[in-house]
Amino acid sequence: MMESFARLLLAWYREHGRSLPWRKENPSFYEVLVSETMLQQTRVDKVLSYYARFLQRFPTLQALASSSEEDVLRLWEGLGYYSRARNLRRAALALAPMDPLPSTLEELMALPGIGEYTAKALLSIHYHRPAFAVDGNLLRVHGRLQMSDAPLSLRRKEAESFFQERLGKVDPSDANQALMDLGELVCLPHGKPLCSLCPLSPFCRAHREGRERDYPPRQEKKAPRLVFLTVFLLVHDGKVALRKRDGKGLLSALYEFPNVEGRAEDEKTLARIFREWGLDVEQVELLPSSRHRFSHLVWEMTNVRVVLRSLPQDPSLLFVERERIADYPIPSAFCEIRRHR
Ligand code: ADE
Repeated sequence: MMESFARLLLAWYREHGRSLPWRKENPSFYEVLVSETMLQQTRVDKVLSYYARFLQRFPTLQALASSSEEDVLRLWEGLGYYSRARNLRRAALALAPMDPLPSTLEELMALPGIGEYTAKALLSIHYHRPAFAVDGNLLRVHGRLQMSDAPLSLRRKEAESFFQERLGKVDPSDANQALMDLGELVCLPHGKPLCSLCPLSPFCRAHREGRERDYPPRQEKKAPRLVFLTVFLLVHDGKVALRKRDGKGLLSALYEFPNVEGRAEDEKTLARIFREWGLDVEQVELLPSSRHRFSHLVWEMTNVRVVLRSLPQDPSLLFVERERIADYPIPSAFCEIRRHR
């Protein structure tokens, strides 16, 4: 008789599953909340160092709840999708006074900053309740096992009930994380699954038909929009100018180097900008240009270093000591110009 789906998966997980800092016998609510928030849209190897630093700085829900948003954003610097950091802090603020902590899907999802994925991760990984946090890994594993052509909006539900049916009797935390690891280590994206290593290949329709490369069906992705920016490193007397971004939209409320849309490389355009900002310019130097990819757009950046004779009056420009730049949350999109401070 064919061994069961659950037994094969869990035997594989015991042998090949990764040992990760948030994967202990009984991870706390807080540890699961932080790790799963960071792991959304971000690979495990990148999350590891951020997770360690975050827990060191904010070891408890209460510690996070009494932090400033800026402190949290600074620790998030380079991890991207900064609204996750703000939402995590908002969730901590709501949770800190609660005793006991919420433990049903409804209660969890009623919290600010906690969506269905995180709520279900808390249920399965912290509470060991039957639930699946369906991330890209689970979607891909399911998509191949079932050769599902359903649109993404339906596949999430399909995947959840598919796994619930086959893994409903084993520990939900192990079941959920075994599937995540299988997706990250074996059932690889971009048409490159390692089926010879897969414990579930006897159950996989796509593998049986030799069509694992066709599943899950590719989603048409829109080409990212290209945006040209000219970014300025304004320096005076050991100080560098930063500017706080708007409270809404991309990279909201983070700090940036002052910039304008478009490519301002010619003297006339530069002179106009300097006049508008009231700058008393001593020297201008073109730095290497750079680019940064967001999920939906690309910034092509012309980077310009400008030495000033005096500090300008513009109150939106915050001149900070060169050594204190690290105190401000600055998105990694600006890492090239930042190198030249
Ligand atoms: N991706 C998202 N959550 C994960 C987890 N708990 N373990 C491994 N990979 C993950």
